[in-house]
Amino acid sequence: MEKYVIKGGQVLEGEVTIAGAKNAALGILAAAVLTDEECIIENVPYVEDTKVLLAAIENIGAKVKYIDEHTVSICGGSIQDDEYLCVDDEYIRKIRASYYLLGALLGKFNRAQVALPGGCDIGLRPIDQHIKGFEALGATVDIDNGGKVVAKAEKLVGNHIYLDVVTVGATINIMMAAALAEGKTTIENAAKEPHIVDVANFLNSMGANIKGAGTDVIRIRGVQKLKGTCYSIIPDQIEAGTFMTMAAATGGNILIKNVIPKHLEAITSKLNEIGAKVIEYDDSVRVMADGRLKCTQIKTLPYPGFPTDMQPQMAVTLALSQGTSVITESIFENRFKYVNELARMGARIKVEGQSAIINGIERYTGASLVAPDLRAGAALVIAALAADGFSTIEDIKYVLRGYENFDGKIRDLGGMIQVVDSDKEVQKFKLMVG
Ligand code: EPZ
Repeated sequence: MEKYVIKGGQVLEGEVTIAGAKNAALGILAAAVLTDEECIIENVPYVEDTKVLLAAIENIGAKVKYIDEHTVSICGGSIQDDEYLCVDDEYIRKIRASYYLLGALLGKFNRAQVALPGGCDIGLRPIDQHIKGFEALGATVDIDNGGKVVAKAEKLVGNHIYLDVVTVGATINIMMAAALAEGKTTIENAAKEPHIVDVANFLNSMGANIKGAGTDVIRIRGVQKLKGTCYSIIPDQIEAGTFMTMAAATGGNILIKNVIPKHLEAITSKLNEIGAKVIEYDDSVRVMADGRLKCTQIKTLPYPGFPTDMQPQMAVTLALSQGTSVITESIFENRFKYVNELARMGARIKVEGQSAIINGIERYTGASLVAPDLRAGAALVIAALAADGFSTIEDIKYVLRGYENFDGKIRDLGGMIQVVDSDKEVQKFKLMVG
């Protein structure tokens, strides 16, 4: 099983270019099946989650072609609308974004059968708000005994939907299901993340009529038909934030290119507050840090608050800061699993309910670690890069789901990291780097 081996202690310096946003791409790739015409989608991150979703879209009959590693052509016209149309395989059950095909296929065919979504084990991750939205549009939704969500409707009619929880997935799914519905749909208490806006912009480029994305009230007027389009996905704010905290935690100096600084405001503000230095340019940010950082308090919130997907990476940075910091996780119930791993590196963190009390230490010591989920895995890489000595990190399959060429980008910044799949290769790496 592949793992990372890392020699810590290097100061990371240089430039890194950010890929397209995974969580925008997953909604957009699914939304492409809403038209029978060809959609060309650019700046698609070449990560496991997008590969698995594209394979599922091809499996249901769409024509899918990689024009290059980051540009995909999808033509949904060849999907057969019959009772066998079902999205279900061992791979799609592992990713969260499978549920976007529910909204897209229900919106297009008035019926959909999709396996219950998987995804990182960071909480219960229910889909009750997705179902509430589909039912408000006139669909009946059941979960069959095979673990599939089965949705069907005579026709979809616009409605007023108030989300009980600010949820990215349900907001995107309802937008897709309502795009071709009859009449007007209003989504209240909608999520405002940049990737919501990106999916809405993609749908509008296909001829949809969606207004208000990025605010908490989204208005959709159903249209008769959607057409093919060519669209480029926004940069990934979480990949950018991950490299920002990597610079801060290793006392480095990194220019992070191909970003939208506005999307990084909460991260930039916190890094400046703890003594790192973030300089913003038009489409890049430079992050520098030298000397010990300071402590702070953070509460994760829906956008534009501090993103939950940056919580582990920030915790790892604060665990090296002077004083006591507190991070409160308000979005997911179980997103501190990395704390036990960090304890093996000497971190002093105590989880109390939904908060982590972090007493900063001078240095981590390298250790053998296991990645519990995607962002925690990336955070453990940051800790290992900042540590004294060698670390190994197992279960890197989680990290590969959301980061493209993560180890290669880190090596280009001077980090000593290698993907290996045997202890022999670990020894070889240790001899090579000395
Ligand atoms: C998306 O997950 C992202 N995943 C997550 O990123 C991200 O952490 C999350 O949004 C929040 O920003 C993808 O886009 C594929 P939610 P999602 O629906 O859609 C509750 C990563 O690391 N909820 O916004 O599943 C839910 O339990 C991943 O890239 C309901 O109660 O998140 C949670 O507490 C991890 N009922 C809160 O809402 C519902 O029907 C936010 O969930 C749906 C959600």
